[in-house]
Amino acid sequence: MKNILVTGGAGFIGSHVVRLFVNKYSNYNIINLDLLTYAGNLENIKDIESSNNYKFIKGDICDADFIEQLFKIEQITDVIHLAAESHVDRSISDPLSFVKTNVFGTVTLLNAAVKFWKQDLSNHIFYHVSTDEVYGSLREDGFFLETTPYDPQSPYSASKASSDHFVRAWANTYKLQVKISNCSNNYGPNQFPEKLLPLMINNIKNNKPLPVYGKGENIRDWLYVVDHARAIDDIFHKGTIGETYNVGGFNEWKNIDIVHLLCNLMDKKLGKSEGESAKLITYVTDRAGHDHRYAIDASKIKKELGWKPSLQFEEGMEKTVEWYLENPNWLEHVTSGSYKDYYKKTYLVN
Ligand code: NAD
Ligand code: DAU
Repeated sequence: MKNILVTGGAGFIGSHVVRLFVNKYSNYNIINLDLLTYAGNLENIKDIESSNNYKFIKGDICDADFIEQLFKIEQITDVIHLAAESHVDRSISDPLSFVKTNVFGTVTLLNAAVKFWKQDLSNHIFYHVSTDEVYGSLREDGFFLETTPYDPQSPYSASKASSDHFVRAWANTYKLQVKISNCSNNYGPNQFPEKLLPLMINNIKNNKPLPVYGKGENIRDWLYVVDHARAIDDIFHKGTIGETYNVGGFNEWKNIDIVHLLCNLMDKKLGKSEGESAKLITYVTDRAGHDHRYAIDASKIKKELGWKPSLQFEEGMEKTVEWYLENPNWLEHVTSGSYKDYYKKTYLVN
């Protein structure tokens, strides 16, 4: 019997990970710990909230006493750590909250894990979910490998790189059994509409300008979020202790091209005439220190664990757009912040 602590399970990727584990592994208890910041939303996992093998706990990964108690009370056997501040633009305006959550919060969890598991570290896994942004920015060619030297360029990526280093330091110093994965840009249902694709979908719906940073020439490698959750499942169960796995979509797009693709798709879905949504594209001031290109070489996870993306990109985009159009309440709630009321009503607390 495993009691797995998933941190950040009310967020975008975490909610898909929680759903996959709760539905697939009835013999595991999944304890979802989330602070419910602006990015955490229990509506994301409404469908599994009454499952017998699932429990939600509201709390802060930076609160050492609370985390130690949680390990003890829930008899935590393993950790899958996703809780983080995750938006690059926010890290530029408020870097310290990224240092706090992503660095201090990760170390707080590492400390608790070693303290609680010290009798037999060999039975436990601490899995840290990280980003390809730790490797820095690529020019037109080349790919990020697991051996690519770290070269983070934004406050967000510096905080994630730092947390990766701490995880490896705990493996070396305290013999904690760790796994790390570094993934490319995710897209799909439940992504907070501050990130490129849901922001554009929401703005097209509301006939608002589509802000493309700089010339729109930056390149990202896009992966459907459920495929990331599948990779996390494979790495948690089959990955080698102490190893790092890069996860990506083999799917690079220039921002301006992906925005045009989305506009065309939205025109069709909304019954607008062709080219209507693209008229909303507005070039705006570039992001400070904007990384030019991310591209993952995911051949290690493919070769060693047999993982590869299950969806073609066109299919993933279609599913994504349909989900946002079929769930206007979700978009309305997260943009108005009223999803906090759901938590209050469901759990009868603040
Ligand atoms: P998200 O912002 O949607 O969710 C983060 C979650 O963490 C939220 O539910 C939030 O409430 C919670 N949280 C924040 N601070 C907390 C704290 N102090 N204590 C407890 N919970 C807290 O993020 P996401 O996009 O789902 O990313 C999840 C993880 O995956 C992050 O570690 C991120 O760095 C990594 N990642 C994201 C992407 C991507 O494209 N989104 C790609 C690769 C890696
Ligand atoms: O690569 C993985 C990372 O992907 C994750 O670690 C981060 O948590 C996640 O937020 C994402 O970071 P990006 O900065 O790449 O994602 P974002 O959606 O913010 O932006 C994608 C690209 O689109 C980027 O080049 C900036 C650009 N952009 C973004 C927004 C929000 C715009 O042109 N306009 C916008 O309004």
